[in-house]
Amino acid sequence: MLLHLLNVLTAFRPNQFSKKLKKETKEIHDKIEKHPFFIDLLSGDLPDYKYAIYLYNLSPIYSSVEMYFFKNTINSDYVRSKAVIQDLQNYNKTINLDYNKFNFNSEWIEYFFHKSLFFKKTELYVRWLADMYGGQFLKKKVKYSSKYEFVNLRKSLKEVRLLIEEGLNETNIDAFIGETKRTYEFHSKILDKIYELTEESL
Ligand code: HEM
Repeated sequence: MLLHLLNVLTAFRPNQFSKKLKKETKEIHDKIEKHPFFIDLLSGDLPDYKYAIYLYNLSPIYSSVEMYFFKNTINSDYVRSKAVIQDLQNYNKTINLDYNKFNFNSEWIEYFFHKSLFFKKTELYVRWLADMYGGQFLKKKVKYSSKYEFVNLRKSLKEVRLLIEEGLNETNIDAFIGETKRTYEFHSKILDKIYELTEESL
């Protein structure tokens, strides 16, 4: 596991913009990493239904991002929505939920479709890299982990990071950082709503 993580962490030599992006979003990253949802997930205390609702809410997010950035590929390291749906279907074998009651992503979807392609990339950063890094810790803790499995993690991580870096420069990096923080906030809000659910609300 340690060697695997080291391999992932050293996959990419970030340029000055990637470094700035990471540095300036560290605080918000560390806050979401410590969200009670993940604390419970890592300690094995998160009920399956909450994780399934999480996958249900993320699935359209992944497919929307893919429509813009990975339309011409079937490479499963980039097209992640299939893995998310596969995990969800597996959870659904043992849980029976009316998911329509737990749709927390409509504000996000509306916002995402209206923003520029450049700012849409913040989602690629926040979601794809979350699975490629943090996901490697989480995958041991969930029943179904296709979402965190990659065929060639090191190579795909590098390519996703290059795609993000492609458009960054001195004049737009600050705006990109601001939008990345907003993207983290959206994801955090979805977690808040799921975390607040109780068995009684099912
Ligand atoms: C328990 C949950 C999590 C853990 C343990 C975790 C852990 C990590 C680790 C170890 C890294 C690599 C840091 C480095 O290069 O020094 C990382 C990077 C990252 N994580 Fe997380 N993470 C978690 C949750 C999340 C979540 C929920 C998101 C987004 C919604 C996220 C987004 C990111 C991003 C965007 C990066 C790349 C940062 C960069 O290098 O620019 N992580 N995470």
